[in-house]
Parts: sequence; structure tokens; C-alpha cells
Amino acid sequence: METLTTQPMGHGQTHAKVILFGEHSVVYGKPAIAFPVRSLKLDAYAYQTQGDWSIRTPYFEGLVAPSDARGEDISGLERTLSEIALMNTLRILGKNPPGIRVEVSGLVPPARGLGSSAAAAGAIARAVTALYGVKLTGEEMFHLVQSVETVAHGTPSGLDAYATTASGPIWFTRGKAESLEIMRSPRLLIADTGEPGHTAEAVRGVRERYEKQEHETVELLDEMAWIAQQAKIDLATGNIGPLGTAMLRNHEILNQLGVGTGGLDHLTRAATNAGALGAKLTGGGLGGCIVALVEDRQAEQRVKTALINAGARDVWRVHGEENE
Ligand code: MEV
Repeated sequence: METLTTQPMGHGQTHAKVILFGEHSVVYGKPAIAFPVRSLKLDAYAYQTQGDWSIRTPYFEGLVAPSDARGEDISGLERTLSEIALMNTLRILGKNPPGIRVEVSGLVPPARGLGSSAAAAGAIARAVTALYGVKLTGEEMFHLVQSVETVAHGTPSGLDAYATTASGPIWFTRGKAESLEIMRSPRLLIADTGEPGHTAEAVRGVRERYEKQEHETVELLDEMAWIAQQAKIDLATGNIGPLGTAMLRNHEILNQLGVGTGGLDHLTRAATNAGALGAKLTGGGLGGCIVALVEDRQAEQRVKTALINAGARDVWRVHGEENE
């Protein structure tokens, strides 16, 4: 922890992430590949006030009062996570201000497998530490975000904590993130089923499956690890074609692990029928989003239109201008 100059306002920024390979298997120490989605940002601003502690986020607005009743719905959960992010940051800093206000705004949709809980926690932690002119080490910040993620979904791998602040694609394995070497950025589209995902429930379901059918589950997780290893090589050499087939197989495995839904299958099929090289659910599953790989700009337009016609609530592109 390093002390800088104190400022009247602190700012923190994070963004969404998309997992291309390895959700769920990453919880068991297997490798995963994730990309930052920098078009979906979250900004947090922290101000000292004379009055209460209060938070406004896209998901919740109100006073931070630990004794308040907390709902079980999504907005209730997001509220609790924001409170925990604020309170844990203040505790680490050793601060107990009479009043503080945190405002979070941005485009990361909640409960869609795109890392909203880690992104919100990371943005709040950065804004509050900046307010006090303190810079936490990368490790301190990681543990702070993980303390919120643990409430969000029990046994977080740590992938989201890194991916929601990463400036490029990452390779994540056994709790460690490194930047992933890629020859050319794959064209990726994310499509939202409009159904909230349920990461905590999905992670619990896979754990139960692991305990009841260990042999079969280990085989599936090992196959996902092998797919991620191959994909790492293909991305490094610019061999995009096989990635599509790998995504489709990874989607099937996630269905076998019990985290798929009809809505996710429907959008995956819509993308491939329109010419996507591959598509799969992304994130925790049981709702949320799919990610589709497309070859070029024409295919991107075609697949985007097909996804919208198939009922996708939103479609976002992951890649940047370098593809143009
Ligand atoms: C994270 O977005 C998705 C999971 O892999 C859980 C985790 O990594 O903690 C399902």
C-alpha cells in the first residue's frame, strides 16, 4: 500500500469480460482464456460527504446500512456486493469516514456472465482508494475483489477479478493470470439471451456433479483443459478456423455439466446457422450470454442480424478497430 496525495474525489474504471474457453473448469485449476470487453465499461466515483454512507449503481441506489433488510433478488444481491466492496475497502484502508458517497455508472449488464460483480467491486475499490490517495498493490486489490466475489459465487477462481481490469486477452491458470499472445484478434460477438445467469447456482451444480460422478466430470473438465491448450496455440499462430469447432465442443461439454439452457442453445444455433465459425455459452451459464466467432466483417453483420432476429436482447462486439 502506497500513499499518494489526498483528493476530494476518487475515480475507478473497470470493464466487462468474456470467457472464450474454460469457464467452470477454471474453478478446478484448469486453464481459461478470457478477453476484456472494453466497450462495456464501469466507472465508479467516490466522494467524502458530511452525512451517511450511500451508493448508487446501475443496479441499486440507497444508504449503506448493514442492518437494513437485504433482498434475495438480483438488485438485492448487487446492492449487497456493492456494500461489501465499499466496506471492505474502507476496512483495508483503516478509514471510518462520517460520510461517503459512491456512484457507479456504466454499461456492464448484471447477471449475464460478463463479470459485473468483479467489475463493480474493482471499480468501487479503485475509486475509494483513489479518494484517500492510496494505491494498493495488484495483489491487495485482487484479494479485495475476491472478498466480494466469494459472496457473489462461493468459490471464485479469480479469473473475473483479473479479466475485468486486463488490457488484453489473458491466459489464467491455477490462480495466476498472464497476457495471452495472439497473432490477430478473433472477431467475437456477445449476444444476450435476456435471461439472467445464475453463476453461484451453476458452480454449485457442477460441484455436486463432481462429487456424485467424479470420473465422468473429471473427463469433461480435462477435455476443456485440452481445448483451452489447443486454442492458446491456435490464437498464437493466427489459426482461427479450429477455434470455432473447439467452441462448439466446449458448449456441448458445458451442457453436459448442466449449466446450459434452451435460450443459450437457441442463440448458439442462430449464430452458426448464419455462418459463425463457432459459438458457445460464456460465463457461469444457466442464462446470460453466448459468444460467437465470425470470420470477417460481412459474416459479423450477418450473424449480428440473425442473433437479433432470434431474440437476442443485445449484441456487443468484443474486438476493436484493429479488425477494420
Ligand atoms: C466466471 O465468470 C465463471 C466461472 O468459471 C466461475 C469462476 O471462474 O469463478 C463459472
